[in-house]
Amino acid sequence: MALACLEGQAEMGVDEAICDAPVNRYMLEPSPPKAAAMAAPAAAPLGPAMPVPQIDPVQEAMAAASAAPDLPALHAALAEFAHCDLRQGARNCVFADGQPGARVMIVGEAPGREEDQRGKPFMGAAGQLLDQMLAAIGLQRNHPDPGRAVYITNILPWRPPHDHTPTAEERAMFRPFVLRHIELAAPDIVVLMGRISAATLLETEDGITRIRGQWRTVLGRPALPMLHPAYLLHNPAAKREAWADLLELQARVRTLP
Ligand code: URA
Repeated sequence: MALACLEGQAEMGVDEAICDAPVNRYMLEPSPPKAAAMAAPAAAPLGPAMPVPQIDPVQEAMAAASAAPDLPALHAALAEFAHCDLRQGARNCVFADGQPGARVMIVGEAPGREEDQRGKPFMGAAGQLLDQMLAAIGLQRNHPDPGRAVYITNILPWRPPHDHTPTAEERAMFRPFVLRHIELAAPDIVVLMGRISAATLLETEDGITRIRGQWRTVLGRPALPMLHPAYLLHNPAAKREAWADLLELQARVRTLP
């Protein structure tokens, strides 16, 4: 019976236990209402309908992000931000790794299983490749010298179910947090790791294979779109382009005063 139950769950896509005890999410406090379109006013039999408060998650995100005076406050604001359902299904709010004072900041896409479990970005196979790529140009997470360290975050702080590609709504909702994150970490160079990062921060739909290696600007800082290490794992032939971009990054780091 228990086995049949497990098999049924596996068929529905339940592939991981995220806590030790079951949580009845119907008994949790409801999330605040979403965008106005979602909140249909209830018919009021005894008088005119009360106006429904209109909540725009992107505006809420902008307000929450800009109110954060430092990185710990931004982390707390992200963890508490209640307008995104991804939070319900994830184990950890994945904020950042590496050295916050680093001159290079890398922005990836979204946590996967390992990142969700460990609460840090780029922990799985793509993360290992990223570390090797960085080491090849003399950079390292947590290096004590800010000129040799990196600071790493993602567009989404929560692992999406089935590792789905972040949607336009999710990207728009977390963009203000990522921009504030960049502002507060104040790197000299931003690396836009992969299509989702580049599309979100540059607000472009140009493909990553087209714009990789071309310097752009994010919040007035030089920003380099690069091929995502997960892409390189599936397309090893593209490592040649990735290497060219790494050398470009290294050359720029060396010009920093
Ligand atoms: N891919 C990302 O973009 N970010 C992670 O944290 C892990 C994999």
